[in-house]
Amino acid sequence: MRILIDTDCGVDDAQAIMMALRQPGATVEAITTVTGNAHVKHVNRNVLTVLDVMGADVPVFPGADQPLVPGYWEAEARVHGEDGLGGYTNRPATARQLEAEPAAAALVRLASEAPGQYILVALGPLTNVALACRLDPLFPDKIRQLVFMGGTISALGNTRNVTAEFNAYCDPEAAEIVLDAFAQATMLSWETTLKHPFTWEQYDALAATDTPAGRFFRDTTITTVDYLRQFRQVPGYLLPDPLAMAITLRPELVRESAMHYARVELQGRATRGQTVIDYMGLLERESNVSIVTGLDTAGVYALYQQMLA
Ligand code: RIB
Ligand code: CA
Repeated sequence: MRILIDTDCGVDDAQAIMMALRQPGATVEAITTVTGNAHVKHVNRNVLTVLDVMGADVPVFPGADQPLVPGYWEAEARVHGEDGLGGYTNRPATARQLEAEPAAAALVRLASEAPGQYILVALGPLTNVALACRLDPLFPDKIRQLVFMGGTISALGNTRNVTAEFNAYCDPEAAEIVLDAFAQATMLSWETTLKHPFTWEQYDALAATDTPAGRFFRDTTITTVDYLRQFRQVPGYLLPDPLAMAITLRPELVRESAMHYARVELQGRATRGQTVIDYMGLLERESNVSIVTGLDTAGVYALYQQMLA
């Protein structure tokens, strides 16, 4: 399984990357970075930190520092900290360097070098992926599968446009371009994230793992957990990007999904960034997303145990 990861490496992205790095039979062949949870300069450093912690060598290609249309993005420091990794201070100087090639160009080149081989897992705003679609109109056809964490499927969002999920909200134009360009994408939405948390007891057990990866998991999540645990409506430890990675690495964990046509609201004064799902087929458009609504959280927990060992 040959994987490309596009990420706005925040706390949950880091876990998704760690999960892929420790999955037998999967190789992470490139990581591209994008502004989202934090500015891309922090995201770049965070990805290098994850590679240091995991002792993995993967080329990192720096990507877009702002969405396609400026003026809407704001970092999500409440959840991910100013640095994007929960204020993680234990960062020795890294010897790793970023690649010189920009992310979108790297995505296009890699897909052209190995058409039909790569699974692209997009964990942040889709700016780089949209740029790749514009650089090479055949890019979507050269990607074996696109899996993305993003969007809402019942207008239950997590941003100031309350019907919009953060990744789509940051760059709605990019999301619209990508959903239009790919014949089919696998979508892991915010509502599906809310339905499949770890219990706080499961979180506590993982955070007690006394390994470098386990200590990194604890140190980078404790701020988020302190923030989330205060809200009674938060059902447990949320796993947005890790769920998208888990169903990529182990598709058998998907318990329920359905094909629909989806597009993105770009104009709405209160809804810009909402992913609009045509459940009734009223638009008579071919479906373009496989919406995952059920998955085996116990299987995801096993992947965490594997990655933190
Ligand atoms: O809405 C959750 C998504 O936005 C996750 O990918 C998280 O990392 C942030 O990018
Ligand atoms: Ca992310």
